[in-house]
Amino acid sequence: MSGNDSNLSTPRIVAVANQKGGVGKTTTAINLGTAMASIGQCVLIIDMDPQGNASTGLGIDHDDREISTFDVLMDPNIAARSLTATRVPGLVLMPSTLDLLGVENELASTPDRSFRLKQAIELIKNVQINNGVEKKPLDYIIIDCPPSFNLLTINAMAAAQSVLVPVQAEFFALEGLSQLTNSIEEFRKLLNPTLEIMGIVLTMVDSSTNLSKTVAAEVSSVFGDKLYNAVIPRNVSVSEAPSFGKPVLLYKPKASGSQAYVELAREILHNERGAEQPAA
Ligand SMILES: Nc1ncnc2c1ncn2[C@@H]1O[C@H](COP(=O)(O)OP(=O)(O)OP(=O)(O)O)[C@@H](O)[C@H]1O
Ligand SMILES: [Mg+2]
Repeated sequence: MSGNDSNLSTPRIVAVANQKGGVGKTTTAINLGTAMASIGQCVLIIDMDPQGNASTGLGIDHDDREISTFDVLMDPNIAARSLTATRVPGLVLMPSTLDLLGVENELASTPDRSFRLKQAIELIKNVQINNGVEKKPLDYIIIDCPPSFNLLTINAMAAAQSVLVPVQAEFFALEGLSQLTNSIEEFRKLLNPTLEIMGIVLTMVDSSTNLSKTVAAEVSSVFGDKLYNAVIPRNVSVSEAPSFGKPVLLYKPKASGSQAYVELAREILHNERGAEQPAA
């Protein structure tokens, strides 16, 4: 062991989570991962959702999901073999299949069932990824969580250093958020004492209404600077891109959604670099 167990050690492990469905978790995992790769980071996306939307959205056909997250949770030793190249240089995927629905049953009597993903990540965190030019170590591992707090999310929360929370700019946004922070508090007590909220990103923001501004003001009154300045607009290219198996940055690089995810990536990198180098 290097002795460097700090929360800022690399790769950074980020769970994209919100128990509320359809708020933009998968869209954020895919497009933030792509945006990070586009600015030189090496990224692994782990698809922890049986729906497999991150895998489909990255254009990985079912036939190409040879070793899936399910297989890895069954046997963390095969994690390295699950890593699947995507069409984005520097971005690899651990794909998921519907098999993941069976994890809860399969691991019911396994004492370390909450820590299977953590074990797998320990074994792959030093892998080198080809970014099209050279092989480099992973900078970020982004885990796309399902919309519920089941054993899959528990594994993600046990493995992650921090949680990125996409919040849809809508009326009841804050209610869901307080549930989420309570759950994170529980995860911290039970599984992962240093788990923190990395940040909150507003998604599907419609700038023609005042609602987004109201939600942003409410979220920042509770979470302060955890709310990112970058906001993700509602943008049709973002919702079309997965049907082409592409992140929006490949499908329509100039779309407002593409630019927004690049801004988010830059803000996250800037914040974390700032945290690494405290002012003298
Ligand atoms: N910025 C955006 N602009 C337009 N549509 C969007 C945007 N972000 C997400 N969507 C659409 O909203 C829907 C839900 O998004 P997504 O699948 O990312 O949410 P999720 O939180 O992962 O859902 P689930 O809880 O089912 O996993 C999708 O159809 C997606 O294409
Ligand atoms: Mg999803």
